[in-house]
Amino acid sequence: MQIVLYLVYLFASVLFILGIKRLGSPKTARQGNFLSALGMFLAIVVTLFDKEVISFEYIIIGLVVGSLIGGILAIKVPMTGMPQMVGLLNGFGGGASALVAFAEYFKELNTGMSFEISTLVTIVLSVLIGSITFTGSLIAFGKLQELITGKVVKYPLQNPINILLFLVVIVAGVLVVIDPSRTDLLYVIGGISLILGVLLVLPIGGADMPVAVSLLNSYSGIAASMTGFVLGNNMLIIAGALVGASGIILTMIMCKGMNRSLMNVVLGGWEDAGSGGSGEGGLQGTAKSVDAEELAMLLDSAQNVVIVPGYGMAVAQAQHAVRDLTNILEKKRINVRFAIHPVAGRMPGHMNVLLAEAQVSYDKLFALEDINDDFPNVDIAIVVGANDVVNPAARHDKNSPIYGMPILNVDYAKTVIVNKRSMNVGYAGIQNELFFYPNTLMYFGSAKEAINKLNNELKEL
Ligand code: TAP
Repeated sequence: MQIVLYLVYLFASVLFILGIKRLGSPKTARQGNFLSALGMFLAIVVTLFDKEVISFEYIIIGLVVGSLIGGILAIKVPMTGMPQMVGLLNGFGGGASALVAFAEYFKELNTGMSFEISTLVTIVLSVLIGSITFTGSLIAFGKLQELITGKVVKYPLQNPINILLFLVVIVAGVLVVIDPSRTDLLYVIGGISLILGVLLVLPIGGADMPVAVSLLNSYSGIAASMTGFVLGNNMLIIAGALVGASGIILTMIMCKGMNRSLMNVVLGGWEDAGSGGSGEGGLQGTAKSVDAEELAMLLDSAQNVVIVPGYGMAVAQAQHAVRDLTNILEKKRINVRFAIHPVAGRMPGHMNVLLAEAQVSYDKLFALEDINDDFPNVDIAIVVGANDVVNPAARHDKNSPIYGMPILNVDYAKTVIVNKRSMNVGYAGIQNELFFYPNTLMYFGSAKEAINKLNNELKEL
């Protein structure tokens, strides 16, 4: 039986690895998701056959309650709310790891077994990382859900306090490893780690929260991996390591996409974002606007169009209207492509998922590095609810908070159409000089209605 268990764990681990690999491309992502879910399912099923299971009743209650809550949330939460949903799930993962480590500690203590040093070290690490992940994720959820302030929160002696608390945890951890009967100290480690989770995430601005969520995701993986060592469960070690590594890789991709260092994010970098205001903001000239009818005529004479989706398209759920626009333009023999910025929207792959949902074919989607050089050949670039990712200040304005962030060079297109509701700022809180460029026309309106209106005009031509 034990051999079957190990073999299934090994097979499940292989499925996780293949699943992650397939998640790397939109074409194979669904299959990747399925393979990983299958791996997790098999791992759960064989674990239930393990003779160490002592209460099937509690497991079934947990399974039913958890599946119900998870299922309802997954169906109800909008795509724009995904970062906080993922944040919450990370938190529960971290909390579960800490609880399992506690349970294993008491089990060994009460049965009078002698602790191995490696088990004690991993119990301490599991409690530490799991607890930080739990409260840190709850704070991230609260910030993204706007239950608490999304602003950067700073307080006196912030870093010295964090360092001091961390040192106390380390010393307590060493003492527990030396004398495993010090239950009180394990509670101290858990308690301080819970506080540390709050203190570490509180200073991070709401704007940087998706990066923090990704980092916490990585922590939850490391905590699970530690718990795998505590339980001597190879599959948990592998699965945790995969989550830990992919979380950190994702974090680095996001930081690169914003040209920010991880330290800058973690220490509350964009604290003064918002100073750009919502209007003139010192920018020269006036923005010109265009209506649906004029825009339809402009598009009718174009040959080469690139659509740049952003967060506004996601909020407005305008992906279907944008797909219709693509179909109408293609019927008029106009070449339509999509330019996808790595951090457009609120999480990596946000735009790809939305466009895939609307059945836009993958071969029309181009990553920044694959399309940027071609913008001078583009007749019309249509920006739908994007802002920061097309702000040319990132290229040349050293004082801009987004200076150095790679952007889509839509301003090099012959004409740029920007669809948004107002002149308001985007995520970074700064005004966008693109709106005042001579080749830019603002097309105001909420994306779904505005694009549908444009589609109707185009059909009448
Ligand atoms: P943003 O810069 O946030 O701009 C979105 C724009 O959408 C806003 O200016 C808003 O203008 C417009 N909008 C809102 N609702 C709309 C609606 N119903 N219809 C039409 N437009 C609407 O978005 P972006 O260009 O996608 O950039 C993403 C930002 O998020 C970047 O700063 C990036 O660094 C940050 N970020 C992203 C990630 C990931 S991984 N994606 C992670 C962390 C941070 P109005 O209010 O005038 O309509």
